[in-house]
Amino acid sequence: MLFDNLSIIDGELAFKNKKATYLTTKYGTPLMALDIDKIRGRMREYLSAVKTYISEGSSVSFASKALCFTGIYRICSEEGMGIDTVSSGEIYTALNAGFDVDKAFFHGNNKTDADIEYAIDNKIGYFVADNIEEVEKIDAYAFSKGVKQKILLRITPGIDPHTHSAINTGKVDSKFGTPIETGQAIELVGKVLSYKNVTLCGFHSHIGSQIFESSPFIFAGEIMLNFIKAVKDTFNYEVKLLNLGGGFGVKYVETDPEIDYTKRIKELGDNLKRIATGLKINLPDVILEPGRSIVADSGITLYTAGSVKEIKGYKNYVSIDGGMTDNPRYALYQSAYTVLNATKIEKPCDYVCTIAGRCCESGDLIQENVKMPKPTRGDIIAVLCTGAYNYAMASNYNKIPRPPIVGIENGEDKLLVRRETYADLVSLDV
Ligand code: LLP
Repeated sequence: MLFDNLSIIDGELAFKNKKATYLTTKYGTPLMALDIDKIRGRMREYLSAVKTYISEGSSVSFASKALCFTGIYRICSEEGMGIDTVSSGEIYTALNAGFDVDKAFFHGNNKTDADIEYAIDNKIGYFVADNIEEVEKIDAYAFSKGVKQKILLRITPGIDPHTHSAINTGKVDSKFGTPIETGQAIELVGKVLSYKNVTLCGFHSHIGSQIFESSPFIFAGEIMLNFIKAVKDTFNYEVKLLNLGGGFGVKYVETDPEIDYTKRIKELGDNLKRIATGLKINLPDVILEPGRSIVADSGITLYTAGSVKEIKGYKNYVSIDGGMTDNPRYALYQSAYTVLNATKIEKPCDYVCTIAGRCCESGDLIQENVKMPKPTRGDIIAVLCTGAYNYAMASNYNKIPRPPIVGIENGEDKLLVRRETYADLVSLDV
């Protein structure tokens, strides 16, 4: 099977040795279950690799936009991970977990004045400032509070991670950050260095997501190190941090490659050291910001099949009791997923069908052209690799409550987020 936390017990699919029916009877469907041991293992792998192959001061921040709830920040805290946050809501959730936000980076292309004040009031570690207006506001508020705020600047290296083309105009033209190519990035640094209440600690770049090759990251690293050298030469100012963002790919389906994250980080580290030596600069400490590759393949979603409908000469539709409200990624990006009939896991996969959600919307599909044993009403349908950007992107469209999250660790299953109730759905209405 796709992942080693899956097995077959008594003829049905089991996740971490818990039979699908055990989980669905106890917690209901739709249900998101997480392999917490695997999440912790991935965090440890990343942390150990950056410290071994890049530098002892290098670190890893979990991009919590991929999966945000109180418990995940507790895990980050226990594992010594930093975090990447993109809103005051994420910062609030981290604080709610008791996470020390001194280890947090605050991203976003449009932080409001209220966001900036909230983050400084709560002693955020670093802002990843997007533009000069933001730096001005951070500087002014830091001054009013009598603090000096650490910042990084978000820089656009101009890379298309999928074509590997450098300085691709499309990628320079982004709502995030400031491009090197147009000369605006170096100009921005000059201005930022004149502000008294911010400390420019480094630069940040993020080139994309679900990237399987190493070369785009090395390429981005090279462009950023050249930029760091240009800053040193122009302003006699050497930054200490280089945040290279997230983006390592994850295996969703059999045809996706399996990534050895340690090997990738070693390759990256070796190349960054070589490039820094060639440029005669010190290699700054490096921060990686993975989201998907920390949590995606630790998640599974279990649904109950409802109607099975065959449109003669066209398609077979298997409807489930969830859909785009808990996983909008097929509707948005036509993302590939592995879908299994958990109830009939040992039967031949001889039925081709479309897995449809329950929303009043034709595009509410989870996957098309799935081959599985023909489901009947009541079968449990499992969608694999749903840990990232599923719960985080869930909605209440059609007033459908969001599913619970159950964590499985050391053989024990535990509720981490309860299922939304109908009362929750009207709790904001006045
Ligand atoms: N850092 C920054 C600044 C980012 O913008 C992102 C993702 C990450 C780190 C983490 O990237 P990852 O390691 O997860 O690839 N909703 C989309 C993904 C959007 C990614 C946005 N930024 C999806 O479901 O595929």
